[in-house]
Amino acid sequence: MKMNALLLLFLAAMVVRAASQPPNPIPVPYDFYSVVLQWPKSVCNTDRYQCTKPIPPSFTLHGLWPQRYSFPCFDDCTLYPGNTKFDKNSIPDDDRNVLIQYWPNMSGDNEAFWGREYEKHGSCVHPFYLDQLTYFITAHRVATSTDLYSILLAAGIICGGPTTFRAIRTAIHASTGFWPHRAMQ
Ligand SMILES: *[C@@H]1O[C@H](CO)[C@@H](O)[C@H](O)[C@H]1NC(C)=O
Repeated sequence: MKMNALLLLFLAAMVVRAASQPPNPIPVPYDFYSVVLQWPKSVCNTDRYQCTKPIPPSFTLHGLWPQRYSFPCFDDCTLYPGNTKFDKNSIPDDDRNVLIQYWPNMSGDNEAFWGREYEKHGSCVHPFYLDQLTYFITAHRVATSTDLYSILLAAGIICGGPTTFRAIRTAIHASTGFWPHRAMQ
């Protein structure tokens, strides 16, 4: 009887302690986001992925990566204490349908892909570690707020036509003020 009471008290104390602890005591500061897009035809043209058809004909999202201008850089939230785990229930059905369209994993499980991006790039920065849905909504909003096709078309860059990375960079910088980078997967 006495043992049980003690055990209960101990458990109660543990629950209170867990509940009163902030999810992440040290959010990692960052200076800017990289919006990482992929051109499905090129991604699927590598040996790395077995893409399911049909392959999307337009840019899709890979992730939103908060970054720093200076050292210490960070590129992996899972190395920081207190990062939060992806909870697929944080994405309501309406948003999930949008993500399926704009943020597909052409070669596997969508949720595993979103979860990996969130855990690696979102789970240790404010406010995403407190609000996972905001991570996905922000990524989608930023990625769709620039009409890349018009920008590229205006510079004479069209699907299937010859171009260079330099031409793409220059066109995007001229119209958005941001320099794009080539991300190697
Ligand atoms: C699919 O998801 C995995 C992680 O789960 C990721 O490494 C991979 O890049 C994704 N594939 C594509 C084509 O986006």
